[in-house]
Amino acid sequence: MVENDFVLNSTLKLPLEGKVSWKAPSNIALVKYWGKKENQIPANPSISFTLDACTTRTTLSYSKLNRASDNFSFDLFFEGKKKEDFKPKINTFFQRIEKYIPFLKSYHFKIETSNSFPHSSGIASSASGMAALALCLMSIEKQINPQIKNTYFNQKASFLARLGSGSACRSIEGNLIQWGDYKAIPESSNLFGVKYPFEVHPNFKNFHDTILLVHKGQKTVSSTVGHELMHNHPFAQERFKQAHTNLDTLKEVISSGDLEKFIEVVESEALTLHAMMMTSLPYFLLMKPNTLEIINRIWSFRQATKTPICFTLDAGANVHILYPEKVKEKAIQFIQDELVAYCENGHYICDRIGNGAKKISSSER
Ligand code: DP6
Repeated sequence: MVENDFVLNSTLKLPLEGKVSWKAPSNIALVKYWGKKENQIPANPSISFTLDACTTRTTLSYSKLNRASDNFSFDLFFEGKKKEDFKPKINTFFQRIEKYIPFLKSYHFKIETSNSFPHSSGIASSASGMAALALCLMSIEKQINPQIKNTYFNQKASFLARLGSGSACRSIEGNLIQWGDYKAIPESSNLFGVKYPFEVHPNFKNFHDTILLVHKGQKTVSSTVGHELMHNHPFAQERFKQAHTNLDTLKEVISSGDLEKFIEVVESEALTLHAMMMTSLPYFLLMKPNTLEIINRIWSFRQATKTPICFTLDAGANVHILYPEKVKEKAIQFIQDELVAYCENGHYICDRIGNGAKKISSSER
């Protein structure tokens, strides 16, 4: 697929009005996307677990205008309240996707969105949010052009979501999604995420991700700025190469079920991500003292008990604790006994690997 395959024919007849709702999950990267080229093209391939509990629900109502407007016409409601400060991000998203969704200026939209996780939890909602909105737009496209197949629907939803936020392209389907050109997966693409096509060992089915909310405030540096700082970064080229090597290793691990090696790759990826931040110019730190306390506790516990439990990090201070179903009780006990104390107000979220986005409802005229 190339970009032009995603352009909708603009001569098709448009529906008058309607409403569609989707629920899309967040995802957690095992090999991280950090650094991008123009048009949201990743500098290296990444892979993630789709999550289950952390989701965004979006309802998109659309009513056709008498004549196409010059600007995008939409109202945005977040958790029931009008949210003007989210609008510029949506506006930029619409600008980026207009070529592929030519009906955007023919409608007035009402976007109503809410998250399953608390608003200020430090969990980025851009992946699930952009994925949910992209899926709503695809439902309208499907109404205009009913021939489109499911594969195309999902691919284009991922393609659009990517233009909103890179990692969002991995939030359409489950359970393991790979994004970015990578030689061992011939169908891989820089344009959209694909379902991981190889055998997955039972160890990685029902994997858990308990998210420890270490710092719920705003991040000091956004991911978008962080990606930018990978341009002219002294270690960038090596890092991009390393992502390919880590994917090669993970491919072996995912089929063999080797949890020890899994832990090594995943923790190294998390620390490398933060090492890139610390070695950019300007440099910055998103980990907090409690992030490090948690990491050290995990290492001690793992050494003492041989429990295959590990951590990964997003671009923030929160810690994602990953473990297989078979050690669930032990892991939860450990988290409650030793780690919850390092969470802001003792808050954490129990999540697990999930099956992807779901359509909730639609009505049209
Ligand atoms: C650290 O997808 O949030 O979570 O494309 O600028 O919106 P933009 O960035 P974003 O970056 C996510 C970075 C990451 C790693 C990952 O999810 O792969």
